Amino acid sequence: MNKITIIGGGNLGKSIISGLAGSDLFEAKNITVVDKSIYNLKEVEDKLGVSTSQNIAESIENVKWVILCVQPRQLDAVLEKIKDIVTTDQILISTVTGTSITEINEIVPSNKVVRVMPNTGAAKKLSMTCIAANDDVKEELEIVKKMFDTIGETLIIEERLMQAATVLGASGIAFFLRFLRAMIQGGIQMGFHPHEAQIIAVQTAIGAATLVAENGTHPEREIDKVTTPQGCTIEGLNEMEHQGLSSSVIKGVMASYEKINTIK
Ligand SMILES: NC(=O)c1ccc[n+]([C@@H]2O[C@H](COP(=O)([O-])OP(=O)(O)OC[C@H]3O[C@@H](n4cnc5c(N)ncnc54)[C@H](OP(=O)(O)O)[C@@H]3O)[C@@H](O)[C@H]2O)c1
Repeated sequence: MNKITIIGGGNLGKSIISGLAGSDLFEAKNITVVDKSIYNLKEVEDKLGVSTSQNIAESIENVKWVILCVQPRQLDAVLEKIKDIVTTDQILISTVTGTSITEINEIVPSNKVVRVMPNTGAAKKLSMTCIAANDDVKEELEIVKKMFDTIGETLIIEERLMQAATVLGASGIAFFLRFLRAMIQGGIQMGFHPHEAQIIAVQTAIGAATLVAENGTHPEREIDKVTTPQGCTIEGLNEMEHQGLSSSVIKGVMASYEKINTIK
């Protein structure tokens, strides 16, 4: 039963498949990808040697793990297709934004469900994946964590925080990239060509994030190290704060959070 099926081989599905196929958790032939698109299936078959199918029912036979990786609006149709076929020992892993474990269990009542919220960093094995399940799903939760460790960092959270995880982790990619774009624009205004400004800003962002990630320090400690009294860094930082940088980021995060709570 060390077999897994992924329903939905789109953007996120492909990244997850790539992580799993490159790990020692599953043999490639024991990973089956289901998608409507023959092109998506051929791509993962050629690149990763996994099995593929266009038939959901056949693909989940004798499989322990089923990853649901379709758009929120497509989920009910997939659950309707599998509800009379799944056996109670099969574990459903849902990547689907905004659909709770309870809602999934309303259609498929007898299966354990684990929710995961990765981000697009998964394509480079740099995802931040938050994972949640009900209290009775302990052993399986640890195995799912190992699966998503193959595409980056993981954190087990309470399900009530899943919407917040979506904003901070998944939308967070867009928020950081908008800041990166602003840095690049500043670099161009100071005289760099766009591609030069991008190289400098991107590498600086990687360096800044890596310092905090590897040193385990609070960002402000690392900021202090580059902030000379009366120097140019503090001048820039204070101007950004006078213009509302931290406040606008926090307000943006909270606006996103309020919105996600109204979707569906
Ligand atoms: N992308 C992210 O960063 C991210 C992060 C966290 C969570 N999520 C969640 O992950 C889920 C998947 O996202 P995604 O970006 O990978 O979506 P996607 O690129 O649209 O991939 C979904 C794939 O599933 C296929 N599909 C849909 N219904 C199917 C069915 N009944 N049978 C077989 N294949 C089916 C779709 O085919 P068609 O296009 O032909 O319908 C599509 O190829 C979403 O719920 C999203 O909210 C995504």
